[in-house]
Amino acid sequence: MTGSEKRKVAVVTGAGGAIGGAIARRLADEGYSVACTDLDAESAERTSLSIKGSAHFACDVTKEAEVLKLRDDVRKKLGEPALLVNVAGLFFVHDLLTTTEETFDQIIGVNLKGTFLTCKTFIPGFISAGGGTIVNIASTAGLHASSTRPIYSVAKAGVIMLTKSITVDFGAKGVRANVICPGLIDTPMADWITKDTEALKKWEKGMPAQRIGTVEDIAKMVSFLASEDSDYMHGSTVVVDGGGLA
Ligand SMILES: NC(=O)c1ccc[n+]([C@@H]2O[C@H](COP(=O)([O-])OP(=O)(O)OC[C@H]3O[C@@H](n4cnc5c(N)ncnc54)[C@H](O)[C@@H]3O)[C@@H](O)[C@H]2O)c1
Repeated sequence: MTGSEKRKVAVVTGAGGAIGGAIARRLADEGYSVACTDLDAESAERTSLSIKGSAHFACDVTKEAEVLKLRDDVRKKLGEPALLVNVAGLFFVHDLLTTTEETFDQIIGVNLKGTFLTCKTFIPGFISAGGGTIVNIASTAGLHASSTRPIYSVAKAGVIMLTKSITVDFGAKGVRANVICPGLIDTPMADWITKDTEALKKWEKGMPAQRIGTVEDIAKMVSFLASEDSDYMHGSTVVVDGGGLA
């Protein structure tokens, strides 16, 4: 990119987290101005301070008024976004019979409603600008049922179908949306297994890739799906899981 070329603007939700931070850094390295946003303003600021040409914004993606404010603030500070990466998410081990209504709403709220609200809010700007790209982060949990995560799995399955629906409704209007399903990635969210070294070793031995995923594994795929190299991919579900689902 030459100095006079305008940098494209990317919005990354959950940018204060492990995967979101790695994605924000990767996109900045590739020339994007990155709007780093998170519920946790301090962590979003930390990510933003570590990368050039970025800004941080506090936003709870479960609240429409905050998402609308985010859009307006990003436009004012960085310009009209061309890329939206939905990374904000919430996971903890849970059991169907003891999950309260409040917990159900919380898990669906962050993972699914949050993705719906940001897509709904940023898509009109993409269309007016002649196009835009969305990369949603779901999970392999949205593709196959495994124990101790029923509501999270439902939420991530919803994110996959939301991405396909966006493609069908807005693809012809220039909106290109794809969804990544990470397998187990080495972040604090995976501490239910990583804190048990023996269990992790056993799990890794059973994997085709023989290792847990890294945040860079996901950031690399976001970078590809944001780029023109993937311009014939619309509504695709991309599994990045070291072969676990194979
Ligand atoms: N780590 C894994 O093994 C794994 C596997 C599959 C999918 N994922 C998905 O990847 C994404 C990132 O996960 P991570 O491992 O980096 O976890 P993380 O906890 O480090 O990151 C999640 C981020 O989302 C933010 N967040 C939570 N609620 C929010 C809200 N209401 N509004 C805005 N931001 C909010 C958190 O503050 C946090 O910074 C999540 O969507 C997660 O479901 C992770």
